[in-house]
Amino acid sequence: MCGIVAYAGPKSVHSVLLVGLTRLEYRGYDSAGIATIDKGELEVRKEKGKIKELEDLLKLYPIEGPAGIGHTRWATHGQPSKGNAHPHTDCKNRMALVHNGIIENHHILRNELTAKGHLFHTDTDTEVIPHLIEEEWKKTGDLKEAIRTSVVRLEGRYSFCLVHDEFPDTVFFARDGSPLVFGQGAGETFLASDILAVIPQAKEQFIIENGQWGWINKDGMHLFDADGTEVTFETTKITMQVSELDKGGYEHFMLKEIYEQPDMLRRIIERRMDEKGKIRFDEMEMSNDFFGRVGRILVTSAGTSWHAGMVGKIYLERFARVATEVDISSEFRYRNPIAEGDTLVMAISQSGETADTLAGVHEAKAKFCRVLSLVNRTESTIAHESDAHIDLMAGPEIGVASTKAYTAQIMHLLFFSLMMSGVRWLTEKEDREEMFQEIRMIPAKIEAILEKADEIKEMAKQFKTTKDFVFLGRHFNHPTALEGALKLKEVSYIHASGYAGGEFKHGPIALITDEVPVVCLAPKTEIYEKMVSNIEEVRSRKGKILSIVTEGDETVPAMSDFCFTIPNCPDYLTPILSVIPLQLLAYYVALERGCEPDQPRNLAKSVTVE
Ligand code: AGP
Repeated sequence: MCGIVAYAGPKSVHSVLLVGLTRLEYRGYDSAGIATIDKGELEVRKEKGKIKELEDLLKLYPIEGPAGIGHTRWATHGQPSKGNAHPHTDCKNRMALVHNGIIENHHILRNELTAKGHLFHTDTDTEVIPHLIEEEWKKTGDLKEAIRTSVVRLEGRYSFCLVHDEFPDTVFFARDGSPLVFGQGAGETFLASDILAVIPQAKEQFIIENGQWGWINKDGMHLFDADGTEVTFETTKITMQVSELDKGGYEHFMLKEIYEQPDMLRRIIERRMDEKGKIRFDEMEMSNDFFGRVGRILVTSAGTSWHAGMVGKIYLERFARVATEVDISSEFRYRNPIAEGDTLVMAISQSGETADTLAGVHEAKAKFCRVLSLVNRTESTIAHESDAHIDLMAGPEIGVASTKAYTAQIMHLLFFSLMMSGVRWLTEKEDREEMFQEIRMIPAKIEAILEKADEIKEMAKQFKTTKDFVFLGRHFNHPTALEGALKLKEVSYIHASGYAGGEFKHGPIALITDEVPVVCLAPKTEIYEKMVSNIEEVRSRKGKILSIVTEGDETVPAMSDFCFTIPNCPDYLTPILSVIPLQLLAYYVALERGCEPDQPRNLAKSVTVE
């Protein structure tokens, strides 16, 4: 939520900031703004709406300077408007600041500063920061000291960047809770919420740690701890490629990411399974000895990652025979979970920055549990704060609706469960070999599904004005039903609910009319017959049946208004295959309804507020 970027160097500062903000737009697109010190004067340009609006403004009123800051907003405090757009300034208009996070004590600070004569112009929590720094600055006349003493007063989560007219070639910054990374280029430097904003110009990176602050100019960074002691730091080489950040010929990132799944899974399978069928998690620093002793697993995650966690629970209980609970992160931290020394907490997060999940990690650590995170961004806060992490290897996911990260999460949860079952001697060699064979065939089976995408595209045409959708699935595909409903809601704004097939008759079946399409996940598994009964129940109430079935099935297609077949596979792999047509359905229905699937209204990719 909210993206910040800063630049110090010889290039056109507004161009560098605009590129960075466009890359960060997945973090919010309610408004955007930049600030520089242009010929000694603070200049701010901001606009409501997407980066394009800011770009148009800058064509009319360009600004330059040796350094600058930029922001793309997902509104938390104060409605999306030009007035509430960042950067925010002090009373004398000498400094401007961009912020990602929430200042929880902003009311107290605002009252205190107002009493001292500061004038506020916005509804944001952020505006207190430049005024607070201004107030502290009056005391010493030293801006650096003013930043150090101001951050001590801030409660909540933040990372911010600031420019001041006394230091035109410098950007000041501080971090506590929200991500901020330093990028070093050749004679130029960067700061950003996410390193993808500043590649390929930034060659090396350093993740700023909580409590650190400092400044950058074109030559480098000066970094300090909370006491004001200068900290030495070592940068690491950036490996992300800029080619991973474009649409690669697809109309939208969402579609590109759906189509990336076969190759992504091939990469995952190749890295995680060696030729001898042994499972490897090289980056995960936790011993087999510990996994042998784990008595219980608590999974904490949100949204799509929560759905993946639900599939993971079935894997962990079936293959590793470990009692597993799965919680929505925002509930986990408040329910005072019972956790003994042999409890492993698993945090699943694509971004690695989700505030609720991070809070769950903190809760787990407060209870002295070991925390293992499954993250797609290994440099993220959740990875950093966990005892060990697993890299989901999905590559950058830009579309706000998560697609490829979901199948990467499920595949990794499967491998993790098989690794644990190996440590505990729970599966026979022959069974494992058979499973590995099946897993290796999954990428090609997804390709076969994608080859039939036009069937879904065609079918989506009839849902232009549909108001409600229901998704039903059981066992491995109950989470698929929830995920299919979430995808459709997110990108097409159609109300959709997912239910466990058997639970449907206990109330929600009252929703069924001939106007409600019901997506029924009925691949061949051991509960197939039960699902058939659920479909009968819906059909007899005149619900419109759209089914996902295994090739060769003749029963469910005969009961369906529309039927899509997926290749045969063992039950534990069905959630990976059956979600693909649902991702396509959401995407094509969104297009039919004129929605922008990559940037759905009200959403941001990375939810860094609780
Ligand atoms: C998925 O389509 C959503 N955009 C959202 O539910 C997401 O999965 C959730 O916010 C969790 O994000 P994370 O995986 O980055 O922690």
